[in-house]
Formats: sequence, structure tokens, C-alpha cells
Amino acid sequence: DGGRPLAGRRIIVTAGPTAEPIDPVRVLTNRSSGRQGYAIADALARLGAEVTLVSGPTALDAPSGVRRVSVETAQEMLEAVRAALPAEAAVCVAAVSDWRPDEVFGIKLKKGKDGPPTLRLVENPDILAELSAAGPGRPRLVVGFAAETNDVELHARAKLARKGCDWIIANDVSEPGVMGGSDNAVMIITRDHVERWERAPKDEVAGRIAARIAEALG
Ligand code: C5P
Repeated sequence: DGGRPLAGRRIIVTAGPTAEPIDPVRVLTNRSSGRQGYAIADALARLGAEVTLVSGPTALDAPSGVRRVSVETAQEMLEAVRAALPAEAAVCVAAVSDWRPDEVFGIKLKKGKDGPPTLRLVENPDILAELSAAGPGRPRLVVGFAAETNDVELHARAKLARKGCDWIIANDVSEPGVMGGSDNAVMIITRDHVERWERAPKDEVAGRIAARIAEALG
């Protein structure tokens, strides 16, 4: 089917930030609008894919035809991703917090005579690396993202090797208007080649990524 080449294919997309609680009112989070991940989920669904969008907190509506699972923390995101397996492809766009407070206070921390609290952080699971190493249940195609400010290709290649994924889609966030904006300028790095795409609106970039995924899944 030319118009719906991904019909019946299960694909997982992670998107948005995670929010790691400090106490009932405070969180540790990343700046991420979720727009690029949502645009990719939408573009994949338009090609017929059965998309599970595992999303951290964002202000966005779920794209139509996409099953959204809303989560807050990295650990919840990992659980939701595991629950969405098996899948033929996974696209990890989420800006996952690298760390979380190792202790979550049950009541709101108060200012007081003891001065500011000290937070001890512990490492979060790496969802992309875990998916890439998932053994027999591994999606055939695992795609990661990289936001870099310099030496984009070099850092992206190192990330591809470190995470064990199949592609890294890298963007140069030093470009004005990319972070939180509507455009993106990306580079696709696979084990054996690199492509640089012209700066374009995020939904156009998403359409090209989805088409490329359809091609790769055959
Ligand atoms: O290590 P870094 O955060 O730079 O890598 C970015 C890529 O790894 C993105 O695809 C992001 O979604 C994924 N990631 C993840 N889990 C983490 C950290 C990053 O899936 N804990």
C-alpha cells in the first residue's frame, strides 16, 4: 500500500521531558516542548503505523490515531516502553533527565533556619541504551536523537556506538530558533553513512524521518 507503507507496524516513540519529583510540589526536569517527538509520532501514524507515544509532561494534544501513554519520570517511561514491546521500531526523542533525586520528600520542603537542602542525585536508566540491548525482543530499528552545540557529527558517532542504536538523528541546538522553535536542521548518522538535511519545519523533518523509517523496515 503506497499511501500507508507502515500499516500494521508497531512503533514506539518517546517524547517530551521527564519530571523527577523532589517533593510534592517540586521537580527536576529538562527543557523540551515535545514538538519534534509528537510530529514524528503523527507522521508515522499517517503512514499507517500503530504508534505508542510514551510522553513526559507537555502542553501538546495527542496526534490523532496515536496511542499516548503519559508518564512523569524516567523510570515510568522505561516501564511504559517495556510494556509497549514488541515493536518493529523505536524512536527515542524524549529529553530524559539523566538524574533523579535519590530521596523524594513526602511533604513540601520548607525554607528555614537550616538553610537550603542538599539534593543527592542518582542516575536514571538509559531507555535508548536498554532498548538497543534488548536481545531477542529488540526492535529491528532503534533510533536515538542527539542535541549538540558543537562537533555535531563527531559527538553523534560516539553516541551511536555508546548507545548501540542503529541511527542517531542529530541536531545543532546552537542554531537560533531550534530549541523550542518550529524548525529543525538535522543530520542522520547510521553505521555506514551520514546525511545532512536542510533546515526545515519540524513537521517536514518528521515526515522525512517517517518515510525513511518506512523504507528501512521495507
Ligand atoms: O545521552 P543523551 O541524553 O545525550 O542521548 C540522547 C538520546 O538518548 C535521545 O534519543 C534520548 O531520548 C535518549 N535517552 C534515553 N534515556 C536516557 C537518556 C537519553 O532514552 N536516560
